[in-house]
Amino acid sequence: MLKELEDLHKACFPDKNWSAQDFMDLKKSGCDIIASQNSFVVWRVIADEAEIITIGVHPDVRNTGIATALLTLVENDVRNRGGKKIFLEVADNNIAARTLYEHNGYTQIAVRAKYYGNVDAILMEKIL
Ligand SMILES: CC(C)(COP(=O)(O)OP(=O)(O)OC[C@H]1O[C@@H](n2cnc3c(N)ncnc32)[C@H](O)[C@@H]1OP(=O)(O)O)[C@@H](O)C(=O)NCCC(=O)NCCS
Repeated sequence: MLKELEDLHKACFPDKNWSAQDFMDLKKSGCDIIASQNSFVVWRVIADEAEIITIGVHPDVRNTGIATALLTLVENDVRNRGGKKIFLEVADNNIAARTLYEHNGYTQIAVRAKYYGNVDAILMEKIL
């Protein structure tokens, strides 16, 4: 299953290389993972705050509401565990992801200049 997740991650993020071991390490460090054949999301809840570590949908099935559904699942889990806020980071030039987050109630709270090489990172939060 983790090998399939590695392949799916590569399809979603062609410039990054996350191995099955990386996902195993995330799990061991306390992250939760939901994965299907064509999508995944990784998040972590610590006390009353949560962080979305990564989310991806296979290019063949994008724009059909899958990521929105995953965010709803994460949000319900965080709320059930007493979480009050969810944070995430997104590259300034990642229009698809920024639109996804904005349409799901996340707002910008900070900018980390040149965080990804020449590209800024936008820090976003959602208050539950
Ligand atoms: C970002 C990503 C997860 C979105 O997944 P998705 O399943 O296509 O998203 P959804 O279908 O739920 O769309 C959510 C909203 O974003 C909009 N959207 C999706 N892709 C878009 C694009 N390329 N440009 C503009 N808006 C876009 C949708 O129209 C939708 O808007 P709506 O709420 O008004 O209907 C997907 O594009 C992806 O895997 N990208 C590569 C990995 C990545 O960048 N992950 C995020 C890292 S921070």
